[in-house]
Amino acid sequence: MVERILVIGSSGQIGTELVEELRNLYGNENVIASDIREPQVEQTGPFEILDILNKVQFLEIVEKYNIKEVYLLAALLSATAEKNPAFGWDLNMNSLFNVLDLAKDKVIDKIFWPSSIAVFGPTTPRENTPQYTVMEPTTVYGISKQAGERWCEYYHKQYNVDVRSIRYPGLIGYKSKPGGGTTDYAVDIFHQAILTNKYECFLSEETTLPMMYMSDAIKATINIMKAESNSIKIRSSYNISGMSFSPKEIAVEIKKSNPDFEISYSPDYRQKIASSWPESINDIQAKQDWCWSPDYTLTNLTKTMLENLKQLYPAEKNH
Ligand code: NAD
Ligand code: SER
Repeated sequence: MVERILVIGSSGQIGTELVEELRNLYGNENVIASDIREPQVEQTGPFEILDILNKVQFLEIVEKYNIKEVYLLAALLSATAEKNPAFGWDLNMNSLFNVLDLAKDKVIDKIFWPSSIAVFGPTTPRENTPQYTVMEPTTVYGISKQAGERWCEYYHKQYNVDVRSIRYPGLIGYKSKPGGGTTDYAVDIFHQAILTNKYECFLSEETTLPMMYMSDAIKATINIMKAESNSIKIRSSYNISGMSFSPKEIAVEIKKSNPDFEISYSPDYRQKIASSWPESINDIQAKQDWCWSPDYTLTNLTKTMLENLKQLYPAEKNH
């Protein structure tokens, strides 16, 4: 029987693009998309409604399709989890245990689970943040990701579970809407640049954060999963870096294409979250172990986002 891949949380920002790429690589029928909500885009392969907190339903789908590889993307992101800490902890941790336990029981063979720059906190060195450093996250999201990293390493060491992970920075893409993150401003700003040519930012102008274009994040995800097991030396989660910029810097870049674009600033509760995170990331281990390298800079990211969003919106709304 064919061994298949399951993506959990496939209707979200990353899942939408990851499923497309996995299906290009492994065939439409071999990649099963799943989520508690309907997909954002038309599906070219199987889709199942799945609540990953429901272990029985999860096992049924795994058995139905002979799933051997799982990408677990379901989570509450940083801003949403701060509004509902108990549920954020419940979803982010128990989804991971449900997947890790199936690998421990040898039902599935391989897991991808994303961590985040949110594992770092205000006591972490903020620039060129190393792989191994002080980690005292102050958000429930960051605490859940840090705990998740420890559990991934534990399951690998104790039960030989093949789990692989990346600490994604803020991700930016045009194919799907983001879902409750602090870095979401860097996606919204492009939509508003097209629709209204102005943007009110919920972070202050100098708030520099690590960011990445979505196709680089998908490339990293596929590459770490394809790498030989013995080259994956870190079984908690790898730092990876794309670019770093502030709202002021991204606005300057947008103005190169849209000279009348205006940005204003009205920081809200998300400022405190962003201020606790690093400005830039050192990803030397990912480069050494599985040949990570990003393709996108702020300049070509901005060009790509504006060009593609212009196609998505009706011409009369375009600036
Ligand atoms: P998202 O919010 O866009 O998507 C998450 C998806 O999970 C949603 O479609 C949601 O419906 C689904 N989901 C929620 N509860 C579920 C459940 N019980 N069962 C099944 N599905 C459920 O998030 P995303 O941006 O695609 O992020 C995916 C993963 O990557 C998360 O673990 C997130 O922490 C991590 N991450 C994302 C970023 C980023 O910038 N987007 C950065 C760092 C890490
Ligand atoms: N981009 C994510 C967020 O802002 C970071 O993990 O929540």
